[in-house]
Amino acid sequence: MPAKLNKFNGKFKGKDFISIKQFTIKKELDLIFFEADKMKKIVAKRKTNGLLKNYCIAELFYQPSTRTFASFLGATEWLGAKAIPIHGMSAYSSAVKGESLSDSVRSIYQTTAADLIILRHPDDNSSEIAAKNSYVPIINAGSGKKEHPTQAVLDLYTIKNELNKMDDLTIGMVGDLKNGRTIKSLSLLLSLVGKKNKLLFVSPDSLRAPLSLINRLRKRKISVYETDDLNKAISKMDVLYMTRVQKEWFSSKEKYEKVANNFILDAKLMKKAKKKMIVMHPLPRVNEISTGVDQDPRSTYFQQMRSGLYTRMALFKLILLGSK
Ligand code: NCD
Repeated sequence: MPAKLNKFNGKFKGKDFISIKQFTIKKELDLIFFEADKMKKIVAKRKTNGLLKNYCIAELFYQPSTRTFASFLGATEWLGAKAIPIHGMSAYSSAVKGESLSDSVRSIYQTTAADLIILRHPDDNSSEIAAKNSYVPIINAGSGKKEHPTQAVLDLYTIKNELNKMDDLTIGMVGDLKNGRTIKSLSLLLSLVGKKNKLLFVSPDSLRAPLSLINRLRKRKISVYETDDLNKAISKMDVLYMTRVQKEWFSSKEKYEKVANNFILDAKLMKKAKKKMIVMHPLPRVNEISTGVDQDPRSTYFQQMRSGLYTRMALFKLILLGSK
């Protein structure tokens, strides 16, 4: 059984950040975004801020990553903390010798004196297990197929900044909704901040979002629609959140290839979308957004990444120092 999640209740200091389910009110997001706006100014000055100068932040990554790893490292550096960035845990650490995640997390604390540990791991409950066995807070940087809470925070910050609202939006989530973790965290977050938000899940039948997620969203009184027809659905969307088919979870190449190119967003399809819609993607993309769409003013997936730097800096500050 996973450990009981510690709700934020408006306070982040000293807490783990494992799941979107820890949020209880929209005000908690407002606080993160308020801090993120300040972080943006720090980076704009191009001068390292010493806010966390006596702290140490370790990253343990058991799965590939470009953006998440780099932006957590960037956030550490811009706030002047000591960084212990460890990539390739599953290939080069004692995990290869059979060491448990709990022992590895304890070891990193003892060997580095880190104040905070960022974890990416292929197991769904990895962050809960790590948190239960850690002496310092854990931030979940992606756990299996289940959650990617800091990605959801940066996604919502992007939506707020691009569209000036977080409610009364129709958000289309497209692609591998079964295996992808980003859409699960983001849809939960959207259901918390906007009761009038509508979710349009677009996927092939074999990659539909888990029923447990859909039921949870409906319980929160959010409208959820499912379709496999992106051509028809696109015109209704204020946000189009594309995702990649998660090749690593397929049992064979053939099975992956059957669904890999089901949805491809190209300039022709973009003509059917609203003039003010935004296109997002957690990245990496494979084929699902053609490069021809990159120049479209509605494409936000490159700016979206920068939101990760600011919101992760904000989370560091709130978890290590609190809101004062
Ligand atoms: C995502 C992830 O790791 O879940 N990437 C990311 O962190 N930006 C999405 C993906 O891998 O498809």
